[in-house]
Amino acid sequence: MQTLDYNDKVVMITGAGSGMGKLAAQNFSKAGAILAICDVNKANIEAVAAQLREEGCEVLASAFDVSDESLVQKFVADCLHCFDKIDVAINNAGVLQPIARTHLLDLEILDMQYKVNIKGVFTCMKHQITAMKEVNNGVILNLSSVAGLGAAANLSTYSASKHAVIGLTRSAAVEYGRYGIRINALCPSHVDSPMMDSAEKESHINKENIAAANPMKRLATMQEIVNAMLWLCSDYNSYMNGTTIAIDGGLTAM
Ligand SMILES: NC(=O)c1ccc[n+]([C@@H]2O[C@H](COP(=O)([O-])OP(=O)(O)OC[C@H]3O[C@@H](n4cnc5c(N)ncnc54)[C@H](O)[C@@H]3O)[C@@H](O)[C@H]2O)c1
Repeated sequence: MQTLDYNDKVVMITGAGSGMGKLAAQNFSKAGAILAICDVNKANIEAVAAQLREEGCEVLASAFDVSDESLVQKFVADCLHCFDKIDVAINNAGVLQPIARTHLLDLEILDMQYKVNIKGVFTCMKHQITAMKEVNNGVILNLSSVAGLGAAANLSTYSASKHAVIGLTRSAAVEYGRYGIRINALCPSHVDSPMMDSAEKESHINKENIAAANPMKRLATMQEIVNAMLWLCSDYNSYMNGTTIAIDGGLTAM
């Protein structure tokens, strides 16, 4: 029987310096994976890598911006050089926008959403797929959001970027299914992560109010989202392709 065992699997995770990416790195390491992790925050990614190495995990770590194609290409090449393959890629790096109505947003906010959330995911997918296609095998999981499935008032550019992640996911899934590459998108609702903490501090939103609006009357924990990642990317889940999976306490069922 196939299990959630990641022994000998090479797992690339972007945005692994904090939040769900960091927790995912720790969980995939515990499940036996070899890791290739990156983040734009150098101090954070180095600290995560040091801790994982102390625990015996084989780790390639690098600090760069996922929207810089030459650096993404180099990281994928370094990963192939060190480990020969990429079995799983989780494109998790992302940024939130300031919480505000559309007419109040500067165009720089839209540019930033495009740069990290769309161009970053596209660039990573492009080079991951190139590597995976060589061996007719691979799994890619892109972090979208419930904001990618429907309206997100006061988050219009973020919502647009997360809709785009779903478009990239679905199109690539159809293009590369024939090569044994499965590509899906994960759509969490509000997760109690550093991103939410910053939003609470900077944009004066209130986690309690957000929790009250969810059918389960709480935010998701990061572990609940990472649990889904572990299953979605495993051999146990071998026929899911081009799907968007909401882990949202029932929010999108309302
Ligand atoms: N927290 C939530 O409520 C929530 C809900 C739905 C979806 N998501 C998505 O989940 C993902 C992870 O979110 P999180 O809550 O763990 O946030 P987080 O802010 O804790 O982590 C995001 C990480 O991405 C890194 N990053 C940002 N821009 C980057 C870039 N250009 N290149 C490389 N790394 C970059 C950051 O440095 C950070 O370490 C994001 O894509 C986010 O949009 C989050």
